[in-house]
Amino acid sequence: MNNRYFCKVLCLVSILFLLSAPSFAQTPDEFQERRQIVLDNMEPNSVFVMRSNPPAGEFEQYRQDNNFYYLTGLNEPNSALIMRARTFRTREGEIVQRTTTLFITPRNPARSDWDPQSLGLEEAKSKLRFDNVLPIGEFQSEYENSLTSRISIFYMDYERSQGLHTPLSDDEDLFKKAREKGGSFEIRSPNNLLYPLRRIKSEIETEYLRMAIDITAEGHKEAMRSIKPGMAEYQLQSIIEHVFAINGSQRVGFNSIVGSGPNSVILHWSDNSRTMEDGDLVVVDIGAEYGMYTADVTRTIPVNGKFTDRQKDVYNIVLAAQQAGMDVLRPGVSWSDVNAAANEVLIEGLQRIGLIKDRSELRNYYFHGLGHNIGLQVHDVGGLGTLEPGMHFSIEPGIYIREEGLGVRIEDDFLITETGYIHTSKNAPRTVEEIEEMMKKKGTDYSRYLIKK
Ligand code: GLY
Ligand code: MN
Ligand code: MN
Repeated sequence: MNNRYFCKVLCLVSILFLLSAPSFAQTPDEFQERRQIVLDNMEPNSVFVMRSNPPAGEFEQYRQDNNFYYLTGLNEPNSALIMRARTFRTREGEIVQRTTTLFITPRNPARSDWDPQSLGLEEAKSKLRFDNVLPIGEFQSEYENSLTSRISIFYMDYERSQGLHTPLSDDEDLFKKAREKGGSFEIRSPNNLLYPLRRIKSEIETEYLRMAIDITAEGHKEAMRSIKPGMAEYQLQSIIEHVFAINGSQRVGFNSIVGSGPNSVILHWSDNSRTMEDGDLVVVDIGAEYGMYTADVTRTIPVNGKFTDRQKDVYNIVLAAQQAGMDVLRPGVSWSDVNAAANEVLIEGLQRIGLIKDRSELRNYYFHGLGHNIGLQVHDVGGLGTLEPGMHFSIEPGIYIREEGLGVRIEDDFLITETGYIHTSKNAPRTVEEIEEMMKKKGTDYSRYLIKK
């Protein structure tokens, strides 16, 4: 490699790195604060046990369980968390001692050529803010010992416990033994402790989400510039995901949906195998993941760059319905009001174009919810309910006319603030005019990669 070439490559790699390196990051303090809130809300004499996700299969990428990540920041398999709230009687009265213990895989230099290395005990002790850090080999006995007759509540993610069937799973076996020894604890899901917290995003979580959403909007723009008749849905998917990766998104938040023509009416189309044809509409429902947080933005675009009158009519009803939902957004508003506002416009529009007569027929053309929270997972936890500052969610009305193979969904992301809302996905062209304008632009030329036959 000559020197000039080397400098160019180095320069390009540095630029890409700078572009993709965040100027913000979640620190161990944030994760500790979350654990502290959970600990403080745990009942006296209770134990909270949570395991990491199991290791990925061979050649698969590992991704941590969302709740476990939210509390630890650790993206490692073979780890676990025990939190305890124990009461003690002292001369001054009863006190509650609250402790956190992380169990982690010790480093194994002998496997360093084969497996990603664990953070290890020493680093975890010095960097993460747990009261105790122990090797994972000690987890089982600590878990068993924690189920003493003195505890009254046991928080565990039993949905992820290994199979609730006979023969008894390891967890059930343990409960049975503990109960035989006099334990009379109640088993509770940790969700009530965790979901209200996960529902409201911190400033740094908001930074990650906004980055994921901005990257997703770039993917949409490139899809609009690059799509053309004859291209396969999966090829458009790959162009979008290329833009995601170049911008520092390590993976998608969910399998990209590129549904053209007849596939545009299938809500979670995931094969992306069809070749797109002139005249098709294409539902492009995508979300980049960034720092474990995922966007969820849908655009519906005409393959040839121009909406037909029919497509435009349907599109504009969906757009107006979304706008009606947006117009009522502010803190304190109930999600059912947002839903009602969007439904009214859909009903009125479908009646106007003669597809339905009665409002009860809306479900024939629109059969999913209006939106959902977004966050560590695409359909994030916590529920919508009454909108509060710090909530991130999508609004995604649609109309699906099966008999015409014509589906339109428009999905945008929003953040509720103290005074109103931020339309976080507004960088993705959204109106008919904005989309057609973007589609006139030239996309990336991939012809250099084509094998010459
Ligand atoms: N991407 C799935 C959804 O819109 O809910
Ligand atoms: Mn979506
Ligand atoms: Mn969605």
